[in-house]
Amino acid sequence: MCGIFGVSGSSVASGATVLKGLKALEYRGYDSWGVAVRTARNDVFICKDVGKISQVHCDFPDGVEAFGHSRWATHGGVTKANAHPHVVGGVTLIHNGICENYRELKEKYPTTYASETDTEVMASLLAAHFATGKTPEECMMQMAKEVEGRYAVLAFFEGRPGICAARKGSPLIIGRGEHETYIASDIPAFLPYTKNVNYLDDNEMVRVVGAEVEFLNLQSGKAIDKRTIAVPWEAEDATKGDHPHFMIKEIREQKSTIASAINQSNDKLKAAAKMMKEAKGVYAIACGTANKAAMAGEYFFANIAGRKVNVVPASEMSSFLQFVREGTLLLAVSQSGETADVMEVLEIGKNKGAKILAMTNVESSSMARMADVHLPLQTGPEKAVASTKAATAQMAILFLLAYADAGRVNEGRELLSATAGAINDMLNPRFEERIEAISKKLAKHENMFIIGRNTLYPMALEASIKIQEVSYVHAQGFAAGELKHGPIALITEGAPVLVLGDDPETLSNAMEVKSRGAWVIGVSCIHSEVFDEWIRVPDCDEAQCISTVIPVQILSYHMAVERGLDPDQPRNLAKSVTVK
Ligand code: G6P
Repeated sequence: MCGIFGVSGSSVASGATVLKGLKALEYRGYDSWGVAVRTARNDVFICKDVGKISQVHCDFPDGVEAFGHSRWATHGGVTKANAHPHVVGGVTLIHNGICENYRELKEKYPTTYASETDTEVMASLLAAHFATGKTPEECMMQMAKEVEGRYAVLAFFEGRPGICAARKGSPLIIGRGEHETYIASDIPAFLPYTKNVNYLDDNEMVRVVGAEVEFLNLQSGKAIDKRTIAVPWEAEDATKGDHPHFMIKEIREQKSTIASAINQSNDKLKAAAKMMKEAKGVYAIACGTANKAAMAGEYFFANIAGRKVNVVPASEMSSFLQFVREGTLLLAVSQSGETADVMEVLEIGKNKGAKILAMTNVESSSMARMADVHLPLQTGPEKAVASTKAATAQMAILFLLAYADAGRVNEGRELLSATAGAINDMLNPRFEERIEAISKKLAKHENMFIIGRNTLYPMALEASIKIQEVSYVHAQGFAAGELKHGPIALITEGAPVLVLGDDPETLSNAMEVKSRGAWVIGVSCIHSEVFDEWIRVPDCDEAQCISTVIPVQILSYHMAVERGLDPDQPRNLAKSVTVK
């Protein structure tokens, strides 16, 4: 949610470098963008606009440092005035997050406000303190005292070399070059230049001038020692390669990502299974697609380990927080490990003495770092807004954990290895072509329905998210048995119904819609005469939902392409939602 990229060091600190870095972060938000370049003579040149970064045409001067921002609007509409950077007095600022008390601060720090953003209020606060003679570091510390909310900020202070950055709740990572330093919301932004990173933690700030980097505590101002870590990613992992979009690249990568995901250390799995056993109640907390993966997990734990796991969308936890206490286990399922609604529940839970088990795709993510045990998804960077390979990795790990909980981890591993192999075989060009042909017909419809039972019920819900978010077709998922309790009234002649599974009850439900004129597309292991179209998936036993969801991902991708849309960057969405 909003991408931030900065660089200090005269040889590379150009507008072009910033734009390239921002492009790599555009999945975090793409309503509007802005770049600030500071020259050796201390002039700050700003270029900003609405729209995507590819539409940029700016003549940037040579710089000694530069930063930029790609926005997902929260406070204030998508306008050029609201795009970052914001300049007040001697301060130029970009921000990812939310300043909750901006109204109060706006009154306290009046200026001629040019935008409707909370960020400009933060710039005004910093500028007011800078004008009293405080150092940039002191201004940042003052900001931390006064601002309520979450932020990652980068600032230039007039006449003071370097970029000042601070973090509370939104990610910031430092990339260490030989003669220069990068600061970004996510590693892929500087991966072409360096793999050596420092993770900024909450309530920390950093001042970078070329290759010189100083870390300070944001409350006390005291210096902090940081370890530099080499990340295991290759620059190519974060590019599209020969694929037309990230979404299809990431779908195809599921040929190998299930196998990587289940390659978890036995010690960690044992520790996680012990946490499940000892927990006084388990709440799985997640949002969006990750929530649907967690719902599949709810079935795995019930079916395999006889354990009840409560799955609640993070944004709906407030009524249930009363049940979270010392000894409760919070199971956080997230691709980014930064989603604000999940983070909030974890923070409250931690204060109450709950334990945290997290599954995220980013080893350095906030959730990974606050967890008692973290099981990494190990799928490599996921950049398309719609989550695909991370979701199947989450399901595979939940499946493995359910088997570990039941004391049969090896059996779980074997089943998942067989599933990974079957998915590898399934994902071939002929399979994609078959689905593409069906998607061409489906793309002409404005409404469709998806049904499934047991673990395929959450997949029906996930299918509806996928289809809606990338193709903008109204798709609704139902528990197959619930159809006759209302939704069946929506079935008219030719209405497309995607049927996940081939168990007798679901096939009866398929027959009920077919008798009312529905066009039935089956996604299953065995063919049935009720299907007008059939997508065959391999039999993966209790892990069936993992292989069944993949053709649905492919279907939604091709529906989007067929409708002339960009599946990587659907309207109004952002990948990493770091605001509530
Ligand atoms: C956004 C993305 C979804 C994702 C959800 C949760 O809405 O568009 O694809 O499932 O956030 O994100 P997380 O990083 O916590 O998995």
